[in-house]
Amino acid sequence: MVAAVRVHKHGGPEVLTYEDVQIPAPGEGQIKIKQHACGINFIDTYFRVGLYPSPVGMPFIAGNESAGEVIQVGPGVSDVKVGDRVAFVGPLGGYAGERVIPAARAVKLPNNISYEQAAGMMLKGMTAQYLLNRTFKVGKGTTVLMHAAAGGVGLILCQWAAHLGATVIGTVGSKDKAALAKANGCHHTILYRDEDFVAKVKEITGGKLCDVVYDGIGATTFPASLDCIRPMGMFVSFGSSSGPIKAFDINLLQFKGSLFATRPTLNHYAAKREDLMSIAADLFDKVGSGAVKIPVNQTYKLKDARKAHEDLEGRETTGASILVP
Ligand SMILES: NC(=O)c1ccc[n+]([C@@H]2O[C@H](COP(=O)([O-])OP(=O)(O)OC[C@H]3O[C@@H](n4cnc5c(N)ncnc54)[C@H](OP(=O)(O)O)[C@@H]3O)[C@@H](O)[C@H]2O)c1
Repeated sequence: MVAAVRVHKHGGPEVLTYEDVQIPAPGEGQIKIKQHACGINFIDTYFRVGLYPSPVGMPFIAGNESAGEVIQVGPGVSDVKVGDRVAFVGPLGGYAGERVIPAARAVKLPNNISYEQAAGMMLKGMTAQYLLNRTFKVGKGTTVLMHAAAGGVGLILCQWAAHLGATVIGTVGSKDKAALAKANGCHHTILYRDEDFVAKVKEITGGKLCDVVYDGIGATTFPASLDCIRPMGMFVSFGSSSGPIKAFDINLLQFKGSLFATRPTLNHYAAKREDLMSIAADLFDKVGSGAVKIPVNQTYKLKDARKAHEDLEGRETTGASILVP
């Protein structure tokens, strides 16, 4: 038996239950991992409240990202062996001392990446990678608006966008978060709880607006985010930390400037093994070179997952949060 955090019924952080579970032996094509660190992500709250359905039914072990050491390999696995250090993003099962995953979803960790860094960056960093390179090609001269710039994805995306040569504007919930975002590549910050962020974006850009808006907030920043985008620019709705965006009339995109809008997810961008490996390789390269740092600013014991969710949803965290089994 190993310790795990399970959800038996949907609800607030109080439904996260710390208990012992039996992790089965790995089957065909699977590996078993002793987990050293588990990432905490906003998506974990979507599964907890039932916004996203659990693909394994109820109860389920929460968590979508972890890093650890391979302790057993199932039949048919040839490219991963016992003792390998691996990390992965996968559907549920993250908040546990051990887990079984398909070997095809595991990414071997370079020696210069710790388990804690890996748990803080695989989901958030790979997301930043595809958002900046594939969803919209960011480079020198691009102006980017990133909402929640001091958050987990936020701090990584700001550093990476600045490294690519972009001008980065970030919204943040407090002055402390503004200072942190600025120290991580954000050129301009907007306190969007107090200031009209559309008016501030117009002022900062001299009316030119942004080429792309990365919006992981959802309900409370829509449709105002569209007013921050120049004609034919891109609206990237990649999450909903304030709640999902309600259905809207597609003609809105015409009136706001022939805009493009997309709702991407890492699952699709990294669905093929070769894409997963190339996204991860680019992330390891940027972190290894020091161009992108992974701020793991909150570390909790596994048994304190409830507190971790309370802090994340209470807007108390910055950068990445991890659980240590
Ligand atoms: N599509 C994908 O592939 C993908 C992958 C990973 C993550 N995501 C999404 O990326 C977003 C960021 O994820 P994360 O794990 O890095 O979280 P995070 O940004 O560290 O935390 C969420 C932040 O959102 C802001 N926020 C604004 N309104 C909020 C509200 N009503 N309740 C809670 N927070 C609110 C807060 O920052 P302020 O205090 O500064 O406002 C808060 O710190 C999420 O929407 C997540 O679903 C998407």
